[in-house]
Parts: sequence; C-alpha cells; structure tokens
Amino acid sequence: MSGLFITLEGVDGAGKSSHMQWLPDFFAQQGLEVVMTREPGGTPVGEKLREILLHESMSQETEALLMFASRQENLNRVIKPALAAGKLLLCDRFTDSTYAYQGGGRHFDTGKIAALENWVQAGLNPDLTLLFDVPLAVSRERLGRHGASLDRFEQENDTFFEAVRNAYLQRAANDPARFMVVDSTQPFDQVKEFVEAGLLKFIRQRINAHT
Ligand SMILES: Nc1ncnc2c1ncn2[C@@H]1O[C@H](COP(=O)(O)OP(=O)(O)O)[C@@H](O)[C@H]1O
Ligand SMILES: [Mg+2]
Repeated sequence: MSGLFITLEGVDGAGKSSHMQWLPDFFAQQGLEVVMTREPGGTPVGEKLREILLHESMSQETEALLMFASRQENLNRVIKPALAAGKLLLCDRFTDSTYAYQGGGRHFDTGKIAALENWVQAGLNPDLTLLFDVPLAVSRERLGRHGASLDRFEQENDTFFEAVRNAYLQRAANDPARFMVVDSTQPFDQVKEFVEAGLLKFIRQRINAHT
C-alpha cells in the first residue's frame, strides 16, 4: 500500500465533518489526490448498514458486528483500492470509533473488538488520526444548534459521552505517533490552522522518510 490513510475521529459535534470539507483542497495543493469516505457507510451496503445502526435498537454484539461489516465493505471497495493507487484516503470515523463508542461507551469487550479488527483489517491501520476533542458542554451546544433530530448515539446520556471521550483520549495517549489531538473548542479558523500546520509537518516527514 503506497497511499496515505488518514482518519478523523471525535465525539458527535466535535467538528469532523466540517473540517472534512476543506481538507481535499488542502491536500490537492500539496499534490495529493484525495478519496473521501465515512463509517459506518461509504459504500452502498455500508450506507444501508449506517441507517440501521443509527436508528434501530439492537444488541451490543450485533452493533459491533455491523460496524465491522460496514468497515469490511469500505476497505474492499474504497479504502484498499485508493491506497493501492497511491491516493490519500480520508475517512470520517474508523476503528477508533468502535473502541470509543462500543468499547468505552457501551463497555463492549475490547478483546472482541480487537479480534474483529485483526480479522477485518489484517494489519491495515491509519497512518494518522486527527482526534477532534471537545468537552460535553461544547458537543451538546453544537449538536443542539443544527436542530436536526438526534441519532441513537447522539441521544446517549452524559456518562456515555464522557466514557467515549475518555476512551478516545486514552487511545491517543497510548499511541502518540499515530494520533494528533486537536483542541476543537477553539474558533473554527484557529482549529483549521492548527490542523494545517500538523498535516504539513506529517506530509514532510513522510516525504523525507521515502527519499
Ligand atoms: N471550531 C468550531 N467552532 C464553532 N462551531 C463549530 C466548530 N467546529 C464545528 N462547529 C459546528 O459544530 C457543529 C457540529 O460539527 P460537525 O462537523 O458536524 O461535527 P461532527 O462531524 O464531528 O459530528 C456544526 O454546526 C459545525 O458548524
Ligand atoms: Mg459528522
């Protein structure tokens, strides 16, 4: 795999989708061709699974399995082909979300998540993960602002939210080489500048590593 695999993570309302919008132009300016996808979703089957995952009640086991079913489709149809073609693959949520939401939020056995991860990904992991971090109050305020009805995860209580956020921060602390933690409470343009600077550094390191 010669491309670059970058994921965006964080609690709902942290700013992932908003920042996803300027990233393709930024990377294009660096001469990198971008393919974007999201999870759950990103493929015809994945998007159907997303609808089920966000709106139907189900057991924890089913939820974890469907997340990885969607991921398998995304890997086969979108992620691996893009990386094989040397492109930059940007994914809005990936396996860190499963560890944070199903593992942290729902206390689903992380050993089982790891088993699915090993099976489905077979060692394919993101090169870089941007973790957009905001506290509960900011997330709630931003989600409330766009007024749309909340999905199954967004409807969860404060304890769930804190567990998800803490699981993310713990994973970032355990793997600082892969994670870039972004303080997303700052005004949008400031967050953007911080991310741009971090990405330029990352791209330069990658180019140096290959020359
Ligand atoms: N730095 C920021 N300051 C203020 N509002 C923001 C900021 N980043 C994102 N938002 C707003 O917060 C809301 C949620 O952002 P969104 O990108 O949809 O989050 P996510 O995809 O992580 O759930 C949107 O209305 C967005 O415009
Ligand atoms: Mg989003």
